[in-house]
Amino acid sequence: MLFNLTEEQLMIQSMVREFSRKVIAPTAAERDKTKEFPKKNFKQMGELGLMGMMIPPEYGGEGADTISYVLALSEIAYSCASTSVVMSVQNSIVCESILKFGTEAQKEEFLIPLASGKMIGAFALTEPDAGSDPVSQSTTAVRDGDDYIIDGTKRFITSGKNCGAVIVTAKTDESAKHKGISAFLVSKKTPGLVVGHVEDKMGLRASDTTDLIFENCRVPASALLGKEGDGFKIAMSGLDGGRIGIAAQSLGVAQAAMDAAVKYGKGRKQFGSAITKHQGIRWQIADMATQIEAARQLVLSAAAMKDRKEKYTTQAAMAKLFASEMVNQVTARAIQLHGGYGFTKDYDVERFYRDARVFTIYEGTSEIQRVVISNNILKDKRK
Ligand code: CAA
Repeated sequence: MLFNLTEEQLMIQSMVREFSRKVIAPTAAERDKTKEFPKKNFKQMGELGLMGMMIPPEYGGEGADTISYVLALSEIAYSCASTSVVMSVQNSIVCESILKFGTEAQKEEFLIPLASGKMIGAFALTEPDAGSDPVSQSTTAVRDGDDYIIDGTKRFITSGKNCGAVIVTAKTDESAKHKGISAFLVSKKTPGLVVGHVEDKMGLRASDTTDLIFENCRVPASALLGKEGDGFKIAMSGLDGGRIGIAAQSLGVAQAAMDAAVKYGKGRKQFGSAITKHQGIRWQIADMATQIEAARQLVLSAAAMKDRKEKYTTQAAMAKLFASEMVNQVTARAIQLHGGYGFTKDYDVERFYRDARVFTIYEGTSEIQRVVISNNILKDKRK
């Protein structure tokens, strides 16, 4: 499929590129050291419409399509992967899930501040003993009159510390497997909800990843997102959109790594000429560019299917699988091209390599993407 981006999509891409390189990039390396959450940048991104891009304006969003969103997200990731993961979780799995499953009251209270960037959102599915297999989660929500009482620990929650609201899944019926899981939209200020351990990570260091502990956390029944028992479906459909975001993020980091390698290679002289004159290096650049372009086509294709309201689960998983594996190869090659300098903190490729490492892990590992893809292919063939 050939993509002719519309005037509007190109305009969004160039606006975000300019903002990202001017505002986000200059402090990215420093944030990697200090682990400072870029609150001010998110406020500005909210004002530019980047925190709820696919949410209609009446709920504080931009009303843009998914293609515009992946273009924008890639541009932010190009400058700072930590910033882009927060943007990705906020736009897709948080805002879109509330838009799709939330009540008017939930949209008023949460979606408007989230989509306009005044509040950061989190999504809490994973637990210490339930990662790839979220059906085995042990957090419970027990009905008590007009309320539910949530108990359990969620782990590896992006923006756990800095969020103002969280979508949390919990078992409301132990016997019903995935149909016994429900989702709740909970204000961070709710008594009984506390931030636990904050991870000290290899990459994405300016984005906080924490435990969220629910201890006798009482929420009104109106906090249910969707119906009782809808939680697994809400998580899975949210992750479909989320996976396109992680693929777009991979694209941005890979492009940044390749551009850095080309720039370095042109200036680095060995054996009497720039190393980019050597065929071995040129072939590596050709391979990187081809891998990035292939990933770009998969990302755009999954985004276009979502925009056309087609079923895109398989394409999102393919885009996420291919792009996240690709960025790990491209960032490793970019370091190789920098030689010894690539192994130092003086060059950005060292950060790109560390940041990219989690892309094949979060929002479903590469192994899980293969499960999703093969399940859907085998299901189709039986029809
Ligand atoms: N959309 C809507 N519903 C879906 C769906 C989708 N994409 N995929 C499955 N479902 C529904 C099915 O229709 C089925 O419902 P019914 O019984 O009503 O028909 C139900 O879910 C169960 O489906 P499966 O039998 O296919 O599910 P499964 O248990 O065999 O496999 C899995 C599911 C693919 C392994 C899934 O568990 C999975 O994706 N695991 C990985 C979890 C994950 O990605 N975690 C990441 C954590 S979030 C994170 O990292 C966020 C962050 O902060 C960055």
